[in-house]
Amino acid sequence: MEFTPLRITTVKPLRELTFDLYIHFKEQYLCYAKRGEQLSEEKFLKLKAQKIAKFFITEGDESNYQKFLDALLDETLSNPKVDIEEKVSMAEGAAESAVERMQKDPGSESAYRATEKAAKSMRQVILNNPDALKKIFGKKADKSEEVIKHSLNVCALSVKLAEILKCSEKEMDDIGTAALIHDIGMTNMSKADMELFYKPKKLLSNDDKRVYYMHTKDAASLLKDKAYVTPAILELVSNHEEVLSGLGPNKKKKLSLSEEILSLVNNYDKRTITNKTSPAQTLKDMMIDELGNYDLKLLNEFKKVLHTEGLLLE
Ligand SMILES: [Fe+2]
Ligand SMILES: [Fe+2]
Repeated sequence: MEFTPLRITTVKPLRELTFDLYIHFKEQYLCYAKRGEQLSEEKFLKLKAQKIAKFFITEGDESNYQKFLDALLDETLSNPKVDIEEKVSMAEGAAESAVERMQKDPGSESAYRATEKAAKSMRQVILNNPDALKKIFGKKADKSEEVIKHSLNVCALSVKLAEILKCSEKEMDDIGTAALIHDIGMTNMSKADMELFYKPKKLLSNDDKRVYYMHTKDAASLLKDKAYVTPAILELVSNHEEVLSGLGPNKKKKLSLSEEILSLVNNYDKRTITNKTSPAQTLKDMMIDELGNYDLKLLNEFKKVLHTEGLLLE
């Protein structure tokens, strides 16, 4: 039997399960709760205390789980009584589960649909809750989850920037979805090549760059020929490392506003990981290093957003 991982934060206690829930324990999948049952608060808290972050479902239950999650997201995010903490963690859980599924099975339409829904939920949380971005950027991830965390950060911040720059609903949806899967091509990278993800861009040799930039082409080949992946998404993913100086992997010198937003925010978040600089220092460095790579007006708008969202306080 094939199993699909999901985040424990996307399953609420005291709600009837519409799928069998498994945990992975000592190399085995054990059925933890059956469909029709509910998880008690006590059981749920105990799992959290044991730092169990993931549940599993069988592939056959994927669509049942997705319906469960869609309803739960809609309810949670629109309920004024639910606090921001819970809204953020639910949207993050949905996004993390979706990205992880895409990494495991990039050709799966249901994983892709889950990603679209998760991106919409992230957008809803961020645009309706002033502190959401700060909460998301305040959390650190384990090294094994760093690419997933990076994808969430890029999704959250680029959607916010897109809103400020008055992008359309469709553009914001596309940016959010593309952000979640933009580094999907890295799943194919060897462990040694993956080390390049952690190397500051300035230190990459030409050979390093050639290897590292392959992930944009790999992502494109994983997604192309899929009827459900629109050309706009494909372009955004393929061009997320492009810069106006033409030094990106595809050597593009003209970018759409959406492409430039995604590239800029990706660049920023990646720097905080590779250069280990504070948000304020990262921004300072970018204002120097990236002149000519992004439109100056865009860089200044980005600076403003980081300020007003309180992301430079750390
Ligand atoms: Fe990338
Ligand atoms: Fe990235």
